[in-house]
Amino acid sequence: MSGYLDASASMPLCAEARAAMLEVYDSFPGNPSSVHSYGHRARSVVEHARTQLADAFHTSPDAVVFTSGGTEANNLAVSGIALASPRGRRLITTAIEHPSMLETCRYLERVHGFALKVWGVDGFGRVVPQAVDVETTLVAMSLANAEIGTVQDLPDAAVPLVVDAVQAAPVLPASLLTDHWPGPRVAAMTVAAHKFGGPQGVGAVIFRPGVAVEPQMHGGGQERGLRSGTLNVAGIAGFGAAVEAVHRAGIGRRAVALMESRDELIAGILGAVPGVRLTGHPTERLPGHASFVFEQVSGEAILVALDVAGFAVSSGSACAAGSAEPSPVLLACGIDADTARTAVRFTLPSPLDSRTVDRVVEIVAAECARVE
Ligand SMILES: Cc1ncc(COP(=O)(O)O)c(C=O)c1O
Repeated sequence: MSGYLDASASMPLCAEARAAMLEVYDSFPGNPSSVHSYGHRARSVVEHARTQLADAFHTSPDAVVFTSGGTEANNLAVSGIALASPRGRRLITTAIEHPSMLETCRYLERVHGFALKVWGVDGFGRVVPQAVDVETTLVAMSLANAEIGTVQDLPDAAVPLVVDAVQAAPVLPASLLTDHWPGPRVAAMTVAAHKFGGPQGVGAVIFRPGVAVEPQMHGGGQERGLRSGTLNVAGIAGFGAAVEAVHRAGIGRRAVALMESRDELIAGILGAVPGVRLTGHPTERLPGHASFVFEQVSGEAILVALDVAGFAVSSGSACAAGSAEPSPVLLACGIDADTARTAVRFTLPSPLDSRTVDRVVEIVAAECARVE
């Protein structure tokens, strides 16, 4: 899988997650809500994974609520806290959020009458915070952006923060998270298994203990009544194993190695392709993330040229792939619509050797020269 350079879309499944999932499938533990011994075994698998997440994020197992992925985690965290809060009816989010954050805020505005303020960003994609009214119900924003890689400082506001850590948590040193977590301001943080090397379709909200939450999925009362539905036992086992593996390997060490490859790739492309620009912040960015806009050549053309040579990259956010619309994230950074359509993103699952970096640079440069 050496040509797979789309880790921000999904990381390849790691060996630890695969083994944990196979063990569940092979032993059929049953439904964790069942009273018999099969159910008891399934419950132990889930509770073990809950502890693995709690240990990694320096919180208590009670704080972890499993969901069907990052999207559901953002929906539950934002709607759940907003609808349970007695404070104001005012939400703040930013112009560069993942649709699962932005659209949840827009839904609360449209259907539940919340006033919504959307903070803009500078040319590097750094959020420009404004004064926060104490009546604000919550501020919902990501710690790192999937499309441009920019890492944010969280605002120093005395209101609850809902932090989308789906991209940040697997690659940023734990200290960055613990600076803010479990801080008094972070009411909830969201994560997704497939960004850690776990399976797709599993995620979690990590709530600050004691925060009030209105359930969004109604039913049998699983996950302390906050998220009903039979749990994905194998997926949760894989999630726990992947999070533990990432932390055991040393998130800081991996980040340093990724940064070296990232910087080599950025320097290579900037040096070889006339008119290319890095998007996002030059240094305050995810360690394995390199994203660019080009002159005249479309992002799709570069993506296809790389794909033919065995390299998988993204020409926008994965969920918007196939859409001819320019990325709202790039527009928010002040990039014009035509240039935004040339975007290409490389996100490294592991460090690259220099020969691979050179080959990628060569293909991108050749494609750009071909269409000039
Ligand atoms: C920042 C961010 N938040 C949320 C999500 C949604 O996660 P999922 O794909 O698990 O629903 C993504 C997915 O890429 C993301 O990048």
